[in-house]
Amino acid sequence: MGRIRVDAPGGGYDILIEPGLLRAVIEGGELLPGGCFDDGGVVVTNVTLSPLYGESLVRAFPAWALVVLPDGEQYKTLASAARLYTDFVAAGLDRQGTVIALGGGVVGDVAGFAAATYLRGVRLVQMPTSLLAMVDSSVGGKVGVDLPQGKNLVGAFKQPDAVLIDPEVLKTLPEREWRCGLAEVIKHGLLADEGLLEQVEQTGVFDREIQPEWAAELVRRAVQVKVDVVQADPFERGVRAHLNLGHTFGHAIEQVSAYAWPHGEAVGVGLAAAAWLSHRLWLCGAALPERVERILTGVGLPTRLGDFDPEALYRAMGTDKKRQAGRLRFVLLRGIGQPVIVDDVPKEMVLDVLRTLQ
Ligand SMILES: NC(=O)c1ccc[n+]([C@@H]2O[C@H](COP(=O)([O-])OP(=O)(O)OC[C@H]3O[C@@H](n4cnc5c(N)ncnc54)[C@H](O)[C@@H]3O)[C@@H](O)[C@H]2O)c1
Ligand SMILES: [Zn+2]
Repeated sequence: MGRIRVDAPGGGYDILIEPGLLRAVIEGGELLPGGCFDDGGVVVTNVTLSPLYGESLVRAFPAWALVVLPDGEQYKTLASAARLYTDFVAAGLDRQGTVIALGGGVVGDVAGFAAATYLRGVRLVQMPTSLLAMVDSSVGGKVGVDLPQGKNLVGAFKQPDAVLIDPEVLKTLPEREWRCGLAEVIKHGLLADEGLLEQVEQTGVFDREIQPEWAAELVRRAVQVKVDVVQADPFERGVRAHLNLGHTFGHAIEQVSAYAWPHGEAVGVGLAAAAWLSHRLWLCGAALPERVERILTGVGLPTRLGDFDPEALYRAMGTDKKRQAGRLRFVLLRGIGQPVIVDDVPKEMVLDVLRTLQ
C-alpha cells in the first residue's frame, strides 16, 4: 500500500493510495485499521457517485448516513453547505463523528467546508474519486465554496484526518475529466518530478482499461509533489504559490470563456504559455516549452487559445486574486523542477506570448 505521511499544523495525517481500497473497506467493514472512525458520521457524495460507490459504502457501515448533493461546480455554494448542516443535525452528527467526502473536488471542497465549520469543526476523511481531486484538491487542507461574485471566495484551512485514494475508481471517470486531472499532474511534474512527466509522456493517454497499479504510481508521485509543497508552506505564504504554475493564464482563459473552458484545459494552455513566457524572458531554452506542448498534445490537451483576444485575457489576469500589489505575478520555469516567481513582466511580452499561442 502506498502511504504518504503529511505533517500539518494541528496534527498530521496519512494519505493511503491503494487499488481496490474502496472494495477492501466495504468488505472489511472498517474504514481504517484500528477503528479510528468507528463512531460513524455522514458520507457526503453526489448524484453521479452515489449509485457507483456511495450506496455500497454506507450499506457496509450502518452507523453512517448518506447525503447526496447535485453534481456540478454550480452547487459548490453556501446553500449546499447550509443543506449539509441541516442533514448533519438530522443524522445526529456530533463532535465524535466524521464527515467523509466521497467525490471530486467539488464534493471535497463543500463537504470539507461544512466539516470545518459545523460544531466548529468535526473530523474529515477525504475519499477523492477524480484524478484532480486525488492529486490536488484533497491534499493541503484548503476547503471552501464559491460566491456569485467569484470562485472559492469563502473558505477555511481544514486538514483532513485521512485521505483514502482508490485509483480503481478512475475507471468510471469521464475521459475529459481524466485529461483535466492530467493537466495538474503535468504541472506537478514540471514543478518537481521529471520522472512523473516521463510517465505521462509514455502512457498518459486515456485508457478505459487503465491499469490500476500504473494509475496508483502516477497518483502517488503527483501527490508527493503537492505534499512537499504544502508541508513547506501550509498557509500559502511562500512556496505554495508555485502550485499556481499555469494558473494566471488558466484562470484568465476560464474567465474570458465565461467558464465554457474547463479548468484543466485552461491550465493546460496556461502551462504552455508559462513555459513560452519563461523562454521569452531567457529563463530557459525553447526545448522546454516545446516539450510541454508535446506532452499536452500527447494526452489530448489543447495548447492553443483559438480566437480569444489577448488584450481581454491580459485584463482578466489583472483581476486574478493571485495578483500582488497591483503587479501581475507569474510562476515561471528555469527548467524542470526549477520554478521561479517573477513580478515585473512587461505587458508587451505577455501579449506576445498570447499572440503566438493563437
Ligand atoms: N481545495 C483545493 O485545494 C482545490 C484544488 C484544486 C481544485 N479545487 C476545486 O476542485 C473542483 C474541481 O474538482 P474536479 O475536477 O474533481 O470536479 P468535480 O468534482 O466537478 O468532478 C468532475 C466530474 O466528474 C465526476 N466524477 C468524479 N469522480 C468520478 C468517478 N470516479 N467516476 C465517475 N464520475 C466521477 C463528478 O461527478 C463530476 O461530474 C473545483 O471546484 C476547484 O475549485 C480545489
Ligand atoms: Zn488547478
